[in-house]
Amino acid sequence: MDKIYAFYQGKIVDEKDINISVRCKGFNYGLGCFEGIRAYWNDQTEQLNVFKLKEHFERLLRSCKVLNLNIPYSSEELSDYTVELLKKNNVKYDVYVRPIVYKGAETLAPSLLDDDNRIVIYFQKIGQCLNSDKLKVGISSWTRLDDDMIPVRVKPTGGYLNSALASLEASNNGYDEAIFLTRNGNVAEGTGENIFIYKNSTLITPPVSDNILEGITRNTIMEIAEKELNIKVIQRSITRSELYEAEEAFFTGTAAEVVAIVEIDNRVIGNGKKGDVSKKLKKIFEEIIKGENKKYSKFITLVY
Ligand SMILES: Cc1ncc(COP(=O)(O)O)c(C=O)c1O
Repeated sequence: MDKIYAFYQGKIVDEKDINISVRCKGFNYGLGCFEGIRAYWNDQTEQLNVFKLKEHFERLLRSCKVLNLNIPYSSEELSDYTVELLKKNNVKYDVYVRPIVYKGAETLAPSLLDDDNRIVIYFQKIGQCLNSDKLKVGISSWTRLDDDMIPVRVKPTGGYLNSALASLEASNNGYDEAIFLTRNGNVAEGTGENIFIYKNSTLITPPVSDNILEGITRNTIMEIAEKELNIKVIQRSITRSELYEAEEAFFTGTAAEVVAIVEIDNRVIGNGKKGDVSKKLKKIFEEIIKGENKKYSKFITLVY
């Protein structure tokens, strides 16, 4: 296999040369934060299009601030390193880029005070992430973490145990994915996706105060729904039964992209098919991420 390069502590190195100790705090206690970024290869233009690269690093730095993880790089520098990394690996296919910042110290105790902060950026080939484009989902019995427990408005590695438990339960129950409720019973999000419902000509998505990640795809979808489809978008709390009565429901996320939900807790959503609004949004979104919609070329960083 060809050499794979990754970014580690300011340098682009052979990924095999990066060693993480079994004693590392990041590994032992989940003391870290991360991002998930997609880059799309376009055969026609022979270009690798990275979607909202700088926004992802800005969010990574916000996660770092919340978790007291300090790294000496700006979002511009991290974006430049990522482009360099993709070029160095001669990537000409769709990839998922994973930056992680973590506490590298090997001493006992889950302390965020240590100043041994490390950063790695690696990538992997990716296709469609969820196993269906018409999801049957279930409400999880696991409650979404509250912001005063583990702040999931940003992306702490340890918080994903909450997601993993909900995913496990969903798949054990025969669902494609889970939806979290907050402690108050409001709809929050999926395990790695934001959620939207459509009813009465309005697109509704939970507010950030309902313990959701401030999704970058979510922001994009809100913008294109308003600007391209002239649809009213509101951020407000959604109750469980509102989900069942929605005309349409769908998830958004870097990995999931835009994906229709056709059943929730065995209740059919709308007519049980992919909704027209989500189909239209998905189509525009796909043109944007492949660099084919010039109006939104500001969302794309070209690698070559
Ligand atoms: C819990 C959670 N919610 C929502 C999302 C979607 O966010 P984004 O669109 O920024 O990928 C993700 C993915 O990163 C996630 O992990």
